[in-house]
Amino acid sequence: MANRQDSNIKVFSTAGTEGKSLPLPDDFSPRPLGQEPPDPDQESPNEIDTGVAHSARIWNYWLGGKDNYAVDREIGDQFREVFPDIVDISRSSRAFLARAVQYLAGEAGIRQFLDIGTGLPTVDNTHEVAQRVAPDSRIVYVDNDPLVLAHARALLVSTPEGSTEYIDADLRDPEKILVAAQNTLDLTQPVALMLMNILGHIPDAEVRPIVSHLLDALPLGSYLAIADGTNVIRGKEFDEAIAIWNDAGSTPYFLRKPEQISRFLDGLELVEPGVVSCPLWRPEPGGLDIGHEVDEFCAVGRKP
Ligand SMILES: C[S@@+](CC[C@H](N)C(=O)[O-])C[C@H]1O[C@@H](n2cnc3c(N)ncnc32)[C@H](O)[C@@H]1O
Repeated sequence: MANRQDSNIKVFSTAGTEGKSLPLPDDFSPRPLGQEPPDPDQESPNEIDTGVAHSARIWNYWLGGKDNYAVDREIGDQFREVFPDIVDISRSSRAFLARAVQYLAGEAGIRQFLDIGTGLPTVDNTHEVAQRVAPDSRIVYVDNDPLVLAHARALLVSTPEGSTEYIDADLRDPEKILVAAQNTLDLTQPVALMLMNILGHIPDAEVRPIVSHLLDALPLGSYLAIADGTNVIRGKEFDEAIAIWNDAGSTPYFLRKPEQISRFLDGLELVEPGVVSCPLWRPEPGGLDIGHEVDEFCAVGRKP
């Protein structure tokens, strides 16, 4: 069994199980995707807080998912009233994630993915896209939301040739993540680090050293894929809506300018077309993307 646990970190993995079984602890109670969320009365308040809106669950609501609570829908609706673009933003961002992983596993030949701030499982999670292109891909997911942990079973279904792992950890502790990820990833070989809509949750003063710490630990030929909210297309409305979020949610979010997002990729070779609004990053002919700019910028960079 590949699961292990120390005092601060929990790791659940398909590694060494030929991708078939889902080794999870006895106290782990996941539920299938698409069902109603757990009954708040049945949940330990310390495990899943159903009274406070959560980033992963509101995001799931905007993406059209069912894994959210009334408080998440309430904040999600208030937010959408002030800033209707958020639905296009969440969907464009998810579509970018799929195209980026397809590029990384395909053209770039990457076989290892570290996806921090995973969110709730949805259509085309990182492992599904990567393993469709390259079945031997290994994926490590990391999130700190107990509800994401409760859904991790859906992320721990790997091809027999590859493997997936879920780490219950906080981005603010990058070293712990790197140590635990080595259960599944070989950090002497290139890794694609995915930081999708998570850096906005970390204030400026803290965020750069965290990204540098992670990139420094990865070998040459590794990649960073990034997407986050900006306030340059409809900045005023997005700023107003974010103020609602930050008053109500458990995890504040900070919008950044595209130039600030670019700085996370300092020292990396930018993959064409560089730092752009998500729908403009290598759109697929006939794809579902909306085709115009939204306040969500993205990029992929390679460590030279
Ligand atoms: C908006 S969702 C994005 C989900 C997915 N990456 C995507 O782009 O569709 C942000 C995710 O980051 C997680 N998150 C926020 N702060 C975190 C932290 N400090 N450490 C780990 N995960 C965090 C949240 O729990 C949530 O699942």
